[in-house]
Amino acid sequence: MSTSPETVSLLNKAAEYDHHNGPLQFAEQKQGDFWSIECIDLYKKFGSNRVMNGLSVGIPEGLITVVLGPSGTGKSVLLSHLIGLMFPDQGDILVHGQSVKNMSTAELLAMRRKFGILFQDGALFGSMNVYDNVAFPLRQHTNFNEKKIHDIVMSRLDEVGLANGAETRMPSELSGGMRKRAGFARALVLDPEIVMFDEPDSGLDPVRTALLCQLIQKVHAENGGTYIVITHDIASARRIAEYIAVLWKGQIVESGDRDEMFNSPNPFIRQFLKGDPSGPLGME
Ligand SMILES: Nc1ncnc2c1ncn2[C@@H]1O[C@H](COP(=O)(O)OP(=O)(O)OP(=O)(O)O)[C@@H](O)[C@H]1O
Ligand SMILES: [Mg+2]
Repeated sequence: MSTSPETVSLLNKAAEYDHHNGPLQFAEQKQGDFWSIECIDLYKKFGSNRVMNGLSVGIPEGLITVVLGPSGTGKSVLLSHLIGLMFPDQGDILVHGQSVKNMSTAELLAMRRKFGILFQDGALFGSMNVYDNVAFPLRQHTNFNEKKIHDIVMSRLDEVGLANGAETRMPSELSGGMRKRAGFARALVLDPEIVMFDEPDSGLDPVRTALLCQLIQKVHAENGGTYIVITHDIASARRIAEYIAVLWKGQIVESGDRDEMFNSPNPFIRQFLKGDPSGPLGME
């Protein structure tokens, strides 16, 4: 599970290349107009392991952004920072213009409620069936009666193709793809403004990956909102990204909208996104 030497060399060259795009400096009328989330010069290390090293990136409001990086580059760590589960050693994160560093506990909890998250492993509760897993956030955070909860849960399960009897099954009885879809339904039940997916494609075969990507696009088109998809799979990025940020060695090497990225003046980024270096499948 290590990144191919060709990819490493390409990303190193991309990072050293002079003319790469940094995060765009949009003059916003009101903070949070354009950027749903802004990461500003983040540093983070665990012991001597420096994971973020001056990382800056903006996540545009209302689009599907893909954060692309090889395994172990700190994608999950970045995601934990966005929702205030981890805090940077230096730098700050603005969520809808509001500084996470300066939030009170109440503000932090309110901020986290804006997010729906599909964790890397699906993270379903093993002792609950699919229905109860998806109902859990509603029972935890709302006063809805069971009738209303039932309507919401079944409509979300229907949206992800699991309202056909799968709702009574236990997570251990589901395929990997079904578990991801159940996790997706659970991430959506509170109508989040921002939805994050940590490697939704990991552990799925190419066909199921393609189906899940289609599902993410369909649900985004229907519900709107800001989607952040974290992946090491270039093919998935190519399929669903409207905006792309490439993470390497603790920094964003380049970010921009999809077409800008595919036509980047940085030839190494262009080559990297075309998937030449490591074959069509990904970076592992
Ligand atoms: N809580 C933690 N304590 C110490 N080190 C951590 C912690 N979380 C992550 N790390 C380290 O940070 C680095 C980045 O980890 P992270 O899980 O963010 O990578 P990733 O890009 O998500 O990888 P993958 O593609 O395998 O999911 C790794 O070296 C990891 O060991
Ligand atoms: Mg990860």
